[in-house]
Amino acid sequence: MEKKGKSSATFKFLRERPLLSLAIGTGIVAGFVFLNVQAMHYTSKPQFCARCHNAKTPGPLGEVHTWSLNIHAKHNISCLDCHSGPGIFSYLKAKIKGLGDVYSFVFRGKDHMIQKLDQIHKDPTLQAKVYSMDSCLFCHSTEYNEKFRKERVITLAGLSFRTLDKIKNPEYLKVKNMIDIMSDQVKDNYEVNPKHSIHIKAGINCVICHRGVVHSGEEIKLVSKSINEGENMCFKCHMENRDKIKMSDINIAKAGYPAKFSHQLHSQIFECQTCHPGLFKMKAGTTTISFADHSKDVACFVCHGEKKSANFNCQSCHQQ
Ligand code: HEC
Ligand code: HEC
Ligand code: HEC
Ligand code: HEC
Ligand code: HEC
Ligand code: HEC
Ligand code: HEC
Ligand code: HEC
Repeated sequence: MEKKGKSSATFKFLRERPLLSLAIGTGIVAGFVFLNVQAMHYTSKPQFCARCHNAKTPGPLGEVHTWSLNIHAKHNISCLDCHSGPGIFSYLKAKIKGLGDVYSFVFRGKDHMIQKLDQIHKDPTLQAKVYSMDSCLFCHSTEYNEKFRKERVITLAGLSFRTLDKIKNPEYLKVKNMIDIMSDQVKDNYEVNPKHSIHIKAGINCVICHRGVVHSGEEIKLVSKSINEGENMCFKCHMENRDKIKMSDINIAKAGYPAKFSHQLHSQIFECQTCHPGLFKMKAGTTTISFADHSKDVACFVCHGEKKSANFNCQSCHQQ
């Protein structure tokens, strides 16, 4: 009774002072939002993830450790910049999914966690599902950055929760001195021409080619290095879909006496690995061929020549 009397007196007091009660109400809501935002910040930090993902070796449970060695960590790019898509709603979705993982940890235990992560770690098609390719594209291209910023709510009332929220292209690419991957520019230090735009438009996931791009324990894990180590994801997919994939012609013109090469015709007859990387780099304009080479067992003349399996007709290669 006493209590009720007191609270109704408080309400009466407040009712007579609408501005004060508005201020108190706003304060309570702001405090609540602040605490939630703080909780969200805290539970997004790598230190928080490291409570469970706590191994110090590459592989299952070692994800925080391997991230810390990766080039992205050096640019202040953290877990949820990649493990959720651009936009506030994707971020909130990832937070809710995180609750599921905590539940799984509490009720299924660490052995289950290791088993689950091990399964993902070994399978690029599962890996493709645990992070957001949209986020990679958000930072690494202008086209998708502009598209997603137009289509999605990126920040709420200017609140940003992570590095990703603040990124605008082409500015970011310029500041970080990075290429726009959709421009198909091929840098000198590449061993392989990635043909990014055609593969990305065909829906091929980054990690199918970029194996262990973040969690291999290396600062930069090159695709060409995986290929040289014998992991030929390019050839596997291309051979399985050889009749559907169209390869465009290449003009070989380094010596200044151009020859036309039908990539399409040759890759219908041979497997990619017949020529790559043994005879030619997978990057146009890297092979130098002299006239003396025409009578040796190098480049085209492994097959083309007098008494060899393919023709040695000057005009068929040098069409002009
Ligand atoms: C309380 C322990 C715990 C914490 C803290 C934790 N995780 Fe996990 N995480 C798990 C468990 C358990 C799984 C396996 C979930 C399952 O059974 O599907 C998992 C799986 C994952 C996966 C792969 C599976 C998937 O479906 O996405 C990712 C990615 C991941 N966690 C990222 C994170 C990030 C990022 C953080 C920090 C923001 C984090 N985790 C914090 C326990 C945790
Ligand atoms: C928040 C922005 C951001 C996100 C998200 C992001 N990156 Fe990056 N990425 C960077 C920056 C910055 C660098 C460092 C560039 C440098 O220093 O050369 C980098 C470097 C790289 C490199 C090495 C490039 C080199 O220098 O040779 C690769 C490969 C790469 N990112 C692929 C990815 C993939 C795949 C994803 C998605 C899983 C991704 N990135 C997500 C910003 C981002
Ligand atoms: C630059 C983007 C990026 C960042 C930042 C990042 N990840 Fe990942 N994460 C990936 C990609 C891509 C994969 C798929 C495996 C790979 O390519 O290394 C992955 C895979 C995983 C997996 C599944 C296990 C596996 O080996 O495939 C877990 C768990 C995980 N990340 C947790 C984290 C945690 C925790 C952090 C922060 C400490 C983090 N990631 C930061 C992109 C990122
Ligand atoms: C068809 C295979 C393939 C796919 C798919 C692919 N890449 Fe690449 N990417 C490469 C190759 C090959 C290179 C050349 C360097 C190397 O060998 O790692 C490269 C280079 C890069 C670089 C380095 C650019 C620089 O600054 O020097 C970045 C960043 C990158 N890729 C991001 C991505 C992102 C993000 C995705 C997904 C949206 C993606 N790639 C999809 C094959 C691929
Ligand atoms: C998962 C399947 C897959 C993988 C892996 C893959 N590709 Fe492709 N590639 C395709 C498809 C599909 C196309 C045709 C896309 C189209 O025509 O729309 C294509 C097209 C191409 C073309 C022809 C484009 C042109 O302009 O001539 C080249 C060259 C190529 N890929 C090289 C590579 C290299 C190099 C790698 C490895 C770094 C690779 N691919 C990995 C599926 C793949
Ligand atoms: C199987 C295809 C092929 C055949 C057949 C072929 N060539 Fe060539 N030839 C090439 C290629 C490829 C190059 C390098 C072109 C370049 O880089 O400009 C080349 C380069 C040359 C060069 C310039 C070499 C230099 O050192 O500057 C001459 C000259 C030449 N060929 C003459 C001939 C003559 C003559 C024949 C016929 C007897 C012939 N080629 C048959 C593919 C062929
Ligand atoms: C008969 C030999 C041969 C076969 C088979 C072959 N290639 Fe090539 N490839 C070449 C030659 C020659 C070049 C040009 C090299 C140069 O200009 O220095 C080339 C260039 C490339 C390039 C660079 C293209 C560019 O525009 O920069 C890629 C990528 C490539 N090949 C992928 C493949 C794939 C994938 C397959 C299998 C489907 C394949 N190649 C089959 C001979 C071959
Ligand atoms: C692995 C063996 C092999 C290599 C390497 C090779 N070719 Fe061929 N090429 C063939 C075969 C087989 C044919 C089809 C039979 C024929 O025309 O003699 C052919 C056909 C051709 C044709 C005739 C296509 C047509 O339209 O009739 C040309 C031109 C040609 N190759 C150019 C080249 C050039 C240029 C190179 C080097 C850049 C090269 N080839 C490398 C095996 C090869």
